[in-house]
Amino acid sequence: MGFFPIALVQKELLTFCASQPSRKRFMDVGAGQGSDTVGMLLTGKTHVTAYELQKAQFEEMQARVKTLVKEVSPELTIETIARFRSGDFLTVKFTGAFEGGYTGINLNKVAHFWDDAQLGAFVGKAAFLFEQGVGRLFMTVVTPTPGDEFDRFARANDSGLVFFQRKDLLNSSLTGILGTPTITTRKPSAHEKPGHIYQTVKQVKAQNYLVTDRVMFYHTEASLARALGDKFRIIKVINLAPKDIGPDAFESMLSIVAERTDD
Ligand SMILES: C[S@@+](CC[C@H](N)C(=O)[O-])C[C@H]1O[C@@H](n2cnc3c(N)ncnc32)[C@H](O)[C@@H]1O
Repeated sequence: MGFFPIALVQKELLTFCASQPSRKRFMDVGAGQGSDTVGMLLTGKTHVTAYELQKAQFEEMQARVKTLVKEVSPELTIETIARFRSGDFLTVKFTGAFEGGYTGINLNKVAHFWDDAQLGAFVGKAAFLFEQGVGRLFMTVVTPTPGDEFDRFARANDSGLVFFQRKDLLNSSLTGILGTPTITTRKPSAHEKPGHIYQTVKQVKAQNYLVTDRVMFYHTEASLARALGDKFRIIKVINLAPKDIGPDAFESMLSIVAERTDD
């Protein structure tokens, strides 16, 4: 996975969890390794259901969350406060018993795998699950590194599928990156699917380059606001450049907090 929690983004989620009355219900959708699930549970305030699509990832996440919570806060009864669900959140059928029962959903680095229809399905489910006027959605999407090239592409194409390639010059021992990367952006071809990431070293005129190809759905603040419609109001936006994310990060992130409006 290669991702780790980002304090600025996690702070928004965890501060909100901690400010809630006890035993409010939250979801972590696309929990991955469960880093946010653990944080939410350790506030001691929330009951969290963690959804993960991939079976192997799900099992690893479940074991990791249980172990970490027991180690750090043995006074919490993990069996009571956490639920683990393996499968596709977008196809789960929630009965009327779930309506309005949730105070928060975390969707961290997941929506860049989803097209507009999938994001729309997620928004519909979240709106149904949330307490009106109270529930908050914490959503972070990965975006290509901003720059002239990507900005031009984004202006011409709005949000949607994007292929981008980042080319970094390597030092002579191939252990470090020199200078500023070159980034090219275009529409992906048919075989280049979202989630595609491919890294290789290429030699050009006796120079070695680390080449990273990536395909994703990219979103902007405006496209997310459109997808959220009138069921949510964006109350906070955080833009993170690669340097805010980590020393090896080569992408950027857009993070929003949105409040469920009253119907
Ligand atoms: C890049 S990881 C991020 C994991 C975690 N949220 C984090 O911030 O570290 C995205 C995860 O979302 C999961 N995922 C993608 N679509 C999903 C879906 N429809 N339902 C449940 N999980 C999904 C993937 O399997 C993957 O583990």
